[in-house]
Amino acid sequence: MKDGYVLKVLKISLFFCLISFGNYSVLADGHQSKTLELVKPTVLITGSNRGIGFALVKNYAANGWNVIATCRNPSKAEDLNQLSNQYSSISIEEMDVTDIAEIQYLAEKYKNQSIDILINNAGILGNIENQSFGNLDQALFEKVMAVNALGPLKVAEAFADSVALSEQKKIVSMTSGLGSMQITLNSDAFYYYRMSKAALNMGVLAMNVSLKPKGVISALIAPGMVETQLLRDSGYPRVGITTDESAAGLVKVIDEISNETIKKNRGKSTNYNGMVIPW
Ligand SMILES: NC(=O)c1ccc[n+]([C@@H]2O[C@H](COP(=O)([O-])OP(=O)(O)OC[C@H]3O[C@@H](n4cnc5c(N)ncnc54)[C@H](OP(=O)(O)O)[C@@H]3O)[C@@H](O)[C@H]2O)c1
Repeated sequence: MKDGYVLKVLKISLFFCLISFGNYSVLADGHQSKTLELVKPTVLITGSNRGIGFALVKNYAANGWNVIATCRNPSKAEDLNQLSNQYSSISIEEMDVTDIAEIQYLAEKYKNQSIDILINNAGILGNIENQSFGNLDQALFEKVMAVNALGPLKVAEAFADSVALSEQKKIVSMTSGLGSMQITLNSDAFYYYRMSKAALNMGVLAMNVSLKPKGVISALIAPGMVETQLLRDSGYPRVGITTDESAAGLVKVIDEISNETIKKNRGKSTNYNGMVIPW
């Protein structure tokens, strides 16, 4: 009975263990082992299998960061798997930002790992017709809000302690100019997408206050108009910038974010090109 109990405790602690060997930490979760170089900074990026998220993974990995690249379906993330074959510093993890159990499982796995930057990138536009006045669909509203507004906050809640362990201590969330009241004053397109990003803006501001005691910064970033599936689905007639251009700008913007910049911009989001987006 006693031996069985000891064995059980041993098994549980081995399931989630982070062991440090000199400059490396080996993360074991019972299925696979990953090696994170402790001397390198670490970034976690959600929705990293395509679009802007994937370009951010490429950029950070090429610049020598450890990247925890999360996506909904790792086995189908072909580009990401190929990239992680090139860079041993990329760890691919499964996480749907609306699945609380999945978020908590991953946060538990990385709870002793310092994460310098958490990038809440995952987002959806949602079917356009079903978010047009006269045809407003409730189920779609709940879905778009769950992914774009609540998801980033739940991910931040779960990983806040890992971010607090790090040197840079930043949580950045991807908003959009479409969440700006001033920019969209004369448009009635994309009700839910715009509402979700406006709600995210408020959540990220409030979170910055909640996270102060941990020394963690919560800030808003925006990628510009970028050639991705999301932009194509929007039917927007203008051509956007490439994902690599956007990612390069965003990395610089994120690097420059500080308590001072947030104070100066009064919490507003910064676009990939450094422009501050009005509320
Ligand atoms: N493109 C633009 O012009 C533009 C402008 C302003 C803001 N943004 C924002 O930038 C971010 C990235 O968008 P993108 O343009 O790169 O779009 P994208 O190419 O459509 O990529 C969206 C990413 O989010 C993931 N995702 C969707 N739902 C998810 C969920 N429930 N859990 C986890 N991941 C989920 C997708 O994964 P799956 O492959 O599994 O669906 C995909 O990896 C979004 O927040 C978007 O709102 C984009």
